[in-house]
Amino acid sequence: MRLFLIVLATLLVLGCAQAPKEAPKASPAKDPVELGKALFQDSSLGTTGQTCKTCHPNPETSMSGVGKKYPAYFNMAKKEMTLKEVINFCIEVPLKGKALPAGDERLLALEAYLKSL
Ligand code: HEC
Repeated sequence: MRLFLIVLATLLVLGCAQAPKEAPKASPAKDPVELGKALFQDSSLGTTGQTCKTCHPNPETSMSGVGKKYPAYFNMAKKEMTLKEVINFCIEVPLKGKALPAGDERLLALEAYLKSL
């Protein structure tokens, strides 16, 4: 009986220990391009109620090749910028939001989406 309880307890502990390991797998499995496309239409990046799509309604055509264009001189900021910096510029200035940190999943996803166009 005691052995049975020990085995049962071990199985329970192992079962519980494994559960959280599986959960985070679901999130990186999401395609960054798909996530970026969703964020492009997400007003939570800013505080004006607008989204990237408000000002860039047809990114498939207007942003086509933008991944190869940058780093380049970005007129609005009057300086040379990487694509990530341009994305953050548009979040901070027109969208009046908070720039995303360098490794942020959302910044990488927006960049991946724009590069796919
Ligand atoms: C209120 C309007 C506005 C919003 C909202 C906005 N942008 Fe922009 N964006 C501009 C303007 C104006 C330019 C400079 C002119 C142009 O290239 O279209 C620009 C330029 C860009 C460029 C460079 C395009 C090129 O061809 O060089 C990228 C990339 C970009 N925006 C991404 C974004 C992303 C990503 C978002 C959302 C996080 C966003 N923008 C939100 C107005 C906006």
